[in-house]
Amino acid sequence: MSGIQNILENNRQWVAQKNAEDPEFFQRLAHGQAPRYLFIGCSDSRVPASGITGTGPGEMFVHRNIANLVVHSDMNMLSVLQYAVEVLGVKDILVVGHYGCGGVAAAASNKQYGLIDNWLVNIRDVVRLHEKEILGIGDEAQRLRRMVELNVVEQVRNLAKTNIIQNAMKGDNPPRLHGLVYDVADGVLKDLRVNGDDVIQEMEHIYGTEVPEPADAPVAVGTAPVDIPVL
Ligand code: CO
Repeated sequence: MSGIQNILENNRQWVAQKNAEDPEFFQRLAHGQAPRYLFIGCSDSRVPASGITGTGPGEMFVHRNIANLVVHSDMNMLSVLQYAVEVLGVKDILVVGHYGCGGVAAAASNKQYGLIDNWLVNIRDVVRLHEKEILGIGDEAQRLRRMVELNVVEQVRNLAKTNIIQNAMKGDNPPRLHGLVYDVADGVLKDLRVNGDDVIQEMEHIYGTEVPEPADAPVAVGTAPVDIPVL
């Protein structure tokens, strides 16, 4: 059986199983979604969002990229984040890294890999921020594991730097931010216990922003308001 025939046959069996368990399963999902979680994870095939968290269809909104990065110029990530927070109203946002991450290992080396080097530079920025701790770990495997953890912590910080999260935190039901690491060697998901509120507070004096008050007088088209710097 070819690869795609396998996929289609698996799907037929899955549909039959779901319908047997719950005849209204698909009808219910067709009405819309209200997922509790947003999962930001690595594209690695060994880290499937649903499989490792025991969540099914409708329970988790998912964004994955190489090394589970939150990059502020990534329109894809920002669109997913805004939609998940402002429209779906997710309650928990999970940044999920994993030990054995090829992206982190590539960033740890000084080799060139082509276009992807421009993506991996975001992980090298994490290394620079924590250079003393990382370079102080003699064992290479342990150093990489710590890099994976620190990368997750910094991506949670990157979430807190966005005006999407900052505005949501001022609302009635702010989402909680979590940093987790998955171990592909034993399947265990570990909570790094990154406190989202602490992360936001400790960076607020630099990254905290407010929505500006509307100007009292209407601004004529084509003129810049005096208090907005001209870039
Ligand atoms: Co990875």
